[in-house]
Amino acid sequence: MTQLRFDGQVAIVTGAGGGLGRHHALLLASRGAHVVVNDIGGSVTGDGADAGPAEAVAQEIRELGGEAVADSHSVATAVDGEGIVKTALAAYGRIDILVNNAGILRDTPLPDMTPAMLDAVIDVHLKGAFHVTRPAWQVMRTQGYGRIVNTTSAAGILGTPRKSNYGAAKGGIVGLTRVLALEGAADNIKVNAIAPIAATRMLTHSMRPPRDSGADDASAAEDAGSRMSPAAQAMMDAVTSKLDPALVSPVVAFLAHRDCPVSGEIFTAGAGQVARFFTGRTAGYYAPALSAEDVRDHLAEIRDEAGYTVPTDPGEEIAQLLRVVAARPPLGAL
Ligand code: NAI
Repeated sequence: MTQLRFDGQVAIVTGAGGGLGRHHALLLASRGAHVVVNDIGGSVTGDGADAGPAEAVAQEIRELGGEAVADSHSVATAVDGEGIVKTALAAYGRIDILVNNAGILRDTPLPDMTPAMLDAVIDVHLKGAFHVTRPAWQVMRTQGYGRIVNTTSAAGILGTPRKSNYGAAKGGIVGLTRVLALEGAADNIKVNAIAPIAATRMLTHSMRPPRDSGADDASAAEDAGSRMSPAAQAMMDAVTSKLDPALVSPVVAFLAHRDCPVSGEIFTAGAGQVARFFTGRTAGYYAPALSAEDVRDHLAEIRDEAGYTVPTDPGEEIAQLLRVVAARPPLGAL
């Protein structure tokens, strides 16, 4: 079996100072990629900064015989996003792979979700992916080659309480991935996304019981263990013991490889299982003079998943609609 390798290629992994990003960086480096290990080194809620975690992972890669440089710019601004790309170009002269992985959480129910909490999360996840991708894109277009792996979440695709900011950001990343896959096709730039499930500090933070009131703060993750019941803690330990973050990285590596045949797709990955999320469209219900009552009376038919399709782009969706319309006699002919 030939090994998937990245010799001569350069990868940027954002948020690679810990958690999933560290494993992505270690795997890519072990297969020959030169890696820019980016991380701002803050808390799970995005407070503080420390160049240490990125340095430590870059050092770990070098000690294992790989090649890496550390970078501690924040993905959350356009200027710093360019800074990350400049680090890669200064060290290695090209960019073949970008893994947009950096992330934070600021969870709370909507009434307590302040605009500042929304901004902080959108800035890192959604705008962060944009801020690093845009300058990297120029390099990839010039090369006529690129692989981008974004990081979305089931919380954005399926929804989950207390994460309106995060769900909006992660849902936005799905849209960004779909659009860039189409825009990148002519230049051999493939853009896919993963929705990971892994035992990291972020998952621990998410699984803790909600605070009695008010919003998150940086100390919340540290409180989690002490406020959990023994039964809840036991369940959490059982779940997290299966969710080694290293089991997500092979999916990232494949999507980052030259041989990756797909673009614009979303793969959920955790505990060694890989599956695909997709957007389906039901066959639906058609009435040339549709009324609100028609919608009420035909809701089951509208929602019926039998015979659904998976349109590749809006043009294909409109074509499906027009086929149904064309198959019916014009108004007044009935
Ligand atoms: P983590 O908290 O261990 O890692 C996130 C890393 O991003 C941290 O090292 C942090 O310092 C870095 N970071 C945060 N803000 C940054 C910024 N502005 N610039 C550069 N680096 C920054 O969490 P984890 O679980 O490894 O998360 C990685 C990605 O996976 C995130 O995008 C997260 O939303 C996503 N995810 C994780 C899931 C899980 O089960 N762990 C589930 C769904 C999505």
